[in-house]
Amino acid sequence: MADENKTIKLIIQRQDEPEAAPYEEEFDIPYRNNMNVISALMEIRRNPVNAKGEQTTPVFWDMGCLEEVCGACSMVINGEAQQSCTALIDQLEQPVKLEPMKTFPVMRDLAVDRSRMFDSLKQVKAWVPIDGTYDLGEGPRMAESKRQWAYELSKCMTCGVCLEACPNVNSNSEFIGPAALSQVRLFNSHPTGEFHKAERMDAVTGEGGLQQCGNSQNCVEACPKGIPLTTSIAALNREATVHSFKEFFGSDYHN
Ligand code: SF4
Ligand code: FES
Repeated sequence: MADENKTIKLIIQRQDEPEAAPYEEEFDIPYRNNMNVISALMEIRRNPVNAKGEQTTPVFWDMGCLEEVCGACSMVINGEAQQSCTALIDQLEQPVKLEPMKTFPVMRDLAVDRSRMFDSLKQVKAWVPIDGTYDLGEGPRMAESKRQWAYELSKCMTCGVCLEACPNVNSNSEFIGPAALSQVRLFNSHPTGEFHKAERMDAVTGEGGLQQCGNSQNCVEACPKGIPLTTSIAALNREATVHSFKEFFGSDYHN
């Protein structure tokens, strides 16, 4: 077999715990056809020996669905933030360099804490509130044209890649980032979610909201789901103007 003796070289940025200093460790692992980055990491887990032949600790990373749906396995692969479950070894230049995303606190090795994304979703009330204790019957219908673009927005998997790409999201900034803003547009467009539109607009026009978008447009380029993030942000900016008029003239908008 031609591939029998082929190896894959990986350079992995490691960190033993949240406050520890990062360091690099190299690994040479046996090549198999159709490997992705996760199967390469699993090989290291199976046999944690580094390129110097020293026994080491297994590399730690996060994952869930293994089909680019949960977003948990995101990391920086050869300089580009992406999902390690769909990053194919055959399509990557070697050595393959793996680093944790820098926008989020590192928990260990390649696993980061994406809590800031989930906190942002809470901050903007990114849900449709329903009382689950009784049958609400059929909800209002959405126009098909609206449903189609709303479906695109619903593909967000909170992977964090758009926050990693955004120059305005970092540990010193309160900016909630493009993903949460796009979810506001999604939930504001929902016939039931719309009832809480004013509260969401209060949140996105406040601290860490729309004002902190610098319009770099990196997010829309980076999103693996092709979500039209800049279109969402532009639409929300228009909505914010309407919101501020309503606030100024004191309508019963919140009721
Ligand atoms: S908008 Fe795209 S890049 Fe950002 S978190 Fe959602 S899926 Fe990931
Ligand atoms: S494991 Fe869920 S997106 Fe990769």
